[in-house]
Amino acid sequence: MDTVSDTVHYVFLAAAACFVLGLHLMNHPRTARRGNTLSAAAMAVAIAATVWLVADEDAISTIGWLVLVSGGLVGAALGLWAAREVKMTAMPQLVSIFNAVGGGAAALIAVNDLLQADHPAGLGARVSLPGALSVVIGAVTFAGSLIAAGKLQGLVSGAPVVFPGARLLNVLLPVSFVAGTVWLVLAPDSRTALYGLAAVALLFGVTMVLPIGGADMPVVIALLNAFTGSAVAMAGFVLDETALIIAGMLVSSSGGILTKLMADAMNRSIMSIVIGGFGTGDSTTSATGSGAPAQVRSVSADDVAMQLAYAGKVVLVPGYGLAAAQAQHELGDLAKLLTEHGVDVSYAVHPVAGRMPGHMNVLLAEANVPYTQLKEMDEANSEFPQADVALVIGANDVTNPIARRPGNAISGMPILDVDKSKSVVVIKRSMGHGYAGIDNELYTDPKTGMFFTDAKKGLSELKAAVGEFVG
Ligand code: TAP
Repeated sequence: MDTVSDTVHYVFLAAAACFVLGLHLMNHPRTARRGNTLSAAAMAVAIAATVWLVADEDAISTIGWLVLVSGGLVGAALGLWAAREVKMTAMPQLVSIFNAVGGGAAALIAVNDLLQADHPAGLGARVSLPGALSVVIGAVTFAGSLIAAGKLQGLVSGAPVVFPGARLLNVLLPVSFVAGTVWLVLAPDSRTALYGLAAVALLFGVTMVLPIGGADMPVVIALLNAFTGSAVAMAGFVLDETALIIAGMLVSSSGGILTKLMADAMNRSIMSIVIGGFGTGDSTTSATGSGAPAQVRSVSADDVAMQLAYAGKVVLVPGYGLAAAQAQHELGDLAKLLTEHGVDVSYAVHPVAGRMPGHMNVLLAEANVPYTQLKEMDEANSEFPQADVALVIGANDVTNPIARRPGNAISGMPILDVDKSKSVVVIKRSMGHGYAGIDNELYTDPKTGMFFTDAKKGLSELKAAVGEFVG
């Protein structure tokens, strides 16, 4: 019996159990940090165990060790740098890059293994089938995630890029994956099948993500995340690595669930993502619906403070602008002041507010906002009609009533019913658009007052002004 190999497999099993427990702890903001630490520690142990196994089996050369150690060090240094330096608002791009790296690595592992098919015995379908799937899913993820990151970073047009025949191409390319996979399983040593499959998959990654624009990116990022997990799991089958299979399947299933939740939150079908081009309606719709310039009512900090101080119920609606301004603490302070003054305060959190899943929850947790005050969309929507004031802080698309009408970029997306409140105040710097690039009808509603300022500055001014009223 090989004790090292057995021990390492028990370690993998324990690590997998910790991944599951870690994911479970991430269900709640209070325990999420612990879940993250547990999963990261389990991954560190699994990596150490793999290195131990490799050393014990004397499986790699000196050059191999050099590559392994330097690769590990460079990867760890980049990860550490990204975790410390990348701003919260740039997290979706970072997640996309991580997805690209994961998918690309899985595809390369499979390509490497399939290239071993040279030897006379060839490869059985047990290796060539997951190998082909890993190449396809990994290459789609790699190319698609790079395009998604480019769109989020503004390097590629955020608007839907649609060309004639794009939809047909997005149906035909996946069909060719089936043909290529069958070819590769029947002839694992065929270089034409292998490279052809990889090239078609890379092309599909590009054509799948290019037509997706505006508000629909969160669903795509979650979907690509699920793809990364599947590609890694397939690579695990190729290498016969239990830890890789389990970790990949966990990412794949949690990413899949997240995709479904996101798609439901946006009222989109997942199939329409893959075929492409949803959310590509007329993105220039005017807020008046007639093309005429609409009137907005501008308000000052004192006006808003008076409204807030005399309100019985206030619903706060945070959005991407709050994150961009890093104004979560100022918002928390204002809410605390109002609560102490006897105002019933709650936060309405839209599932795609901000730029990544859970963005607002993370920010509000940072500001120690009581969880009992956080309301998810459905619950919040039942509260708006009773709210004296809905205070919107840097949220735009998720409050736009135009989503209730067909023919625009966010048609059908469930929104926060801010316009059903008795009065609305919006803090933002200008009449600038949100991520979907369309006018917001809420701003021209007669009951809406626009407080044009940076969120952090505006909230500080409001806190001071409310303090004067209630003090
Ligand atoms: P957006 O619709 O993107 O609007 C954000 C608003 O914040 C902008 O209109 C901007 O107006 C304002 N703003 C920016 N910086 C500000 C600052 N320093 N102070 C005050 N205001 C500031 O945000 P949202 O309502 O949160 O909607 C999110 C959008 O992003 C959706 O379309 C969603 O689909 C998309 N998206 C979401 C995700 C996830 S997973 N959450 C991922 C990718 C994309 P001014 O420039 O006039 O200030």
